[in-house]
Amino acid sequence: MSLLSKYYVDSWSGWHLETSPGPQSLVTLFLLITGGLLVASQIWTFLRVLLSLFVLPGKSLRSFGSKGSWALVTGASDGIGKEFALQLARAGFNLLLVSRTEEKLSALADEMSSKNPAVQTKRLAMDFARNDDEDHEKLKALVDELDIAVLVNNVGKSHNMPVPFVLTPEDELTDIVNINCLGTLRVTQLVAPGMVQRKRGLILTMGSFGGLVPTPLLATYSGSKAFLQYWSTALGSELEPYGIQVELVQAHLITSAMSKIRKPTATVPTPRTFVKSVLSKIGRHGGSPGYTFSSSPYWSHGLIAWVLTCVMGVMSKTFLSFNKDMHESIRKRALRKAEREKGKKAE
Ligand SMILES: NC(=O)c1ccc[n+]([C@@H]2O[C@H](COP(=O)([O-])OP(=O)(O)OC[C@H]3O[C@@H](n4cnc5c(N)ncnc54)[C@H](OP(=O)(O)O)[C@@H]3O)[C@@H](O)[C@H]2O)c1
Repeated sequence: MSLLSKYYVDSWSGWHLETSPGPQSLVTLFLLITGGLLVASQIWTFLRVLLSLFVLPGKSLRSFGSKGSWALVTGASDGIGKEFALQLARAGFNLLLVSRTEEKLSALADEMSSKNPAVQTKRLAMDFARNDDEDHEKLKALVDELDIAVLVNNVGKSHNMPVPFVLTPEDELTDIVNINCLGTLRVTQLVAPGMVQRKRGLILTMGSFGGLVPTPLLATYSGSKAFLQYWSTALGSELEPYGIQVELVQAHLITSAMSKIRKPTATVPTPRTFVKSVLSKIGRHGGSPGYTFSSSPYWSHGLIAWVLTCVMGVMSKTFLSFNKDMHESIRKRALRKAEREKGKKAE
């Protein structure tokens, strides 16, 4: 009989202990209790993840605005941004659409009016890569005259293909920082003061697993999304007292021009399915219970986020090496494809 069990039986039977428990038994007891608590807390966290992803509803979108309120979506003409615009219009918001190509914006505005004539739209074609003051002045003039209840900071750029940092072209590097970081900061500074005045609003920012997980060969993109993760979380704390909900949306892959994936799977949803999960789970953490003012709301992304952050440890060397090998292999394939296409053009 071990010292521990002797101590237990003796205590239970009320017998007087002849010997006090030794240091070894106390250590064992401490380890058992600590281990038990750790396992229980992981189980509890996982249950919260499941409830958040599959059962509990999010806040109603209408609670962020009133009749006639507007939503501003950046990068609205394609992919995830276009879906945000369409679904917010369906929820009754008027839309201020911002992205680079005027023809695509005007086609989207027409599509919205034909589907729902009550929805008003305004649009501004601007290129965030230029970080142009005049563009931001034009946007400010539009924003100042509207009750913007929802801001979706969606516009973003990644690398054309995985590339070692030292080989990254300078224009690609500055475009990523201008679009993903500066553009998002400047638009939010135009919109947030009005929300503070009205004491309501929702600010969603598209993050990425690239910001959750340090990603070799996508270092600048990964860093820009990690920047958004920290910035958005700090902003969430600053704006919470004014009744403004700030949320960084963590996403793995989604079918779009950026991901270059066309066929949806269980882990790669279409923009429509993905955006539906975001808008129906506002205020829920999904698979990221440890990340305040953040959410990973799409079910399979949420489960992956939970495994990565709570189980594996995204900063570990083993995980970094795995991630690097994967992106090196994608780069090799992308280079071979580029070579083939060059060959075809030369023929
Ligand atoms: N797709 C994914 O797998 C994935 C995963 C995680 C996170 N995300 C994030 O989700 C967001 C949207 O990605 P997406 O896949 O929907 O991208 P996308 O399909 O490439 O669409 C990008 C949108 O942004 C606009 N845009 C691009 N560059 C711009 C610029 N310089 N100035 C103004 N507008 C610009 C595009 O407009 P034009 O067509 O007019 O150029 C388009 O409307 C990004 O922030 C991305 O990082 C995507």
